[in-house]
Amino acid sequence: MHYTYAQYQESAAYIRGKIRSFVPKVAMVLGSGLGFLGDEVENAIRVPYGEIPHFKASTAPGHKGQLVFGTLRGRNVAVMQGRMHHYEGYSYEEVSYAVRVLRLLGCDTLVVTNAAGGVNLDFHAGDLMLITDQIKIFMESPLRGENIPQFGPRFPDASHLYTPALQDAARAAARDLGIDLKEGVYMYFPGPQYETPAEVRFARTAGADAVGMSTAPEVITAAHCGMQVLGFTLVSNMAAGILDQPLSEQEVLDAAEACKDKFSRLVLACLERL
Ligand code: HPA
Repeated sequence: MHYTYAQYQESAAYIRGKIRSFVPKVAMVLGSGLGFLGDEVENAIRVPYGEIPHFKASTAPGHKGQLVFGTLRGRNVAVMQGRMHHYEGYSYEEVSYAVRVLRLLGCDTLVVTNAAGGVNLDFHAGDLMLITDQIKIFMESPLRGENIPQFGPRFPDASHLYTPALQDAARAAARDLGIDLKEGVYMYFPGPQYETPAEVRFARTAGADAVGMSTAPEVITAAHCGMQVLGFTLVSNMAAGILDQPLSEQEVLDAAEACKDKFSRLVLACLERL
């Protein structure tokens, strides 16, 4: 099943009825255990996904499942507290549905965050990585199916999915805060099983610095409809086979909790520079 432009418009119209004259500019998709930033939004208007026509619920642990509209550091934001993942059973189009709706509501920038496994051997658990590019060669594109030209072209350029000027802003923000910000390529794996050690070696050979199960579909969709994109990965663990210890979801959530402060300072400082 593919969504129609009218469905995106219906979702946007429902939300507009809730937020009235508020126009969000920066959409934020917050990953595993990182949704707390949504709680810091001022003058917040919360809209649960379940209320919005055509929206799907988010079932992953650590994902609340609501949109939060309001201001963060003086910027008009729309925070997705909880995202959809392909491994939950959603198509890539469903996973990135909200991005297009937020575009219709006025967002011209997308900030994405995720937790992922470190593949680059110079990384450590707890590092933050600026995403400079991505690899998503498994399974189909979120843009598969009839193109909706109101959003963008059939064959969009993907040379700069992550906006270079926003990357520079993030580097400057990290420098000012004294945060050691790693950089690298995020490689998408569909999950939900973590990668095998062989897959992690494959990812490294392919040029990846981190592996994770989210973000890449939403970023393709955002860039397609002309949004600027800024992305950060929290290296919650080293990927499988590197440290010879089993990976667990608890480890990911614990790492997110431990890095909350550093992570939120960086993202908020970037917001000020957008
Ligand atoms: N692999 C994939 N996704 C992840 C990982 C990982 O090692 N850690 C957190 N999310």
